Amino acid sequence: MELPDHVLRNRAYWDRTAPEWVAPGERNWAKNEPSWGVWGIPEAELHLVDDVAGLDAIELGCGTGYVSSWLARRGARPVGIDNSARQLETARRLQLEHGLEFPLLHGNAETVPYPDASFDFAISEYGAAIWADPYKWIPEAARLLRPGGRLTFLGNGLLFILCCPDDDDAPPTDRLLHPQFGACRWEWPGNDSVEFHLSHGDMLRLLRDSGFEVEDLIEIQAPEGAVTRFGGFDPAWARRWPSEEVWKARKRS
Ligand SMILES: C[S@@+](CC[C@H](N)C(=O)[O-])C[C@H]1O[C@@H](n2cnc3c(N)ncnc32)[C@H](O)[C@@H]1O
Repeated sequence: MELPDHVLRNRAYWDRTAPEWVAPGERNWAKNEPSWGVWGIPEAELHLVDDVAGLDAIELGCGTGYVSSWLARRGARPVGIDNSARQLETARRLQLEHGLEFPLLHGNAETVPYPDASFDFAISEYGAAIWADPYKWIPEAARLLRPGGRLTFLGNGLLFILCCPDDDDAPPTDRLLHPQFGACRWEWPGNDSVEFHLSHGDMLRLLRDSGFEVEDLIEIQAPEGAVTRFGGFDPAWARRWPSEEVWKARKRS
């Protein structure tokens, strides 16, 4: 099947930048206790992978695969899909090093080669959550999930995106620099990748129209004294406004 232009562009981008994600992948694989997003918020606060033992799970945009490794260690049966062969090479090596194997697929999370109702749980941490077209990957997640199955994803908060200057890695300002209306496909000038960011209203409607009930929307506040290795994030800003958010939804029975 022919891949959409954003998938091809993001494939080239992630294949090129994959070496930068090796060390973070290694660190995350070495941890048993999950921590999330750019501020490393502990699982005990966010509960993203609660009660997954015995579940068939899929990670949409798994990168180096550490979220799937956490799922496997908690008794789930994960499958990881990613658009970048280079990211998956790291994931495969780390599987061998940790003696933890699960299927890894090279593909697009918008069209996953699994039958309907194959999974109980779908998750994305900065994978499909911001890199795939939500109008494609969210209905696809609904197709893949069994009735009552859960979808959990974490990415940037829209307010953060609206306040970010166009210069690469510049921190957000206290001004709205971009319009919210019409927000969806997002291309930062000078950057060859394509992101997707929806307003809360549009996301809520999309989830409901795709067959989900929304159970929670967590707007993440950076902890006091937080630091991050990620450029473009400002702890002081993220103490005042949400730089990241988590959506939790359940497929209607
Ligand atoms: C930041 S990584 C996410 C993995 C991990 N949680 C992390 O934060 O490092 C983003 C990943 O999304 C993948 N990705 C981008 N678009 C995708 C798509 N359409 N389908 C599947 N994976 C995709 C990229 O190849 C990349 O490995």
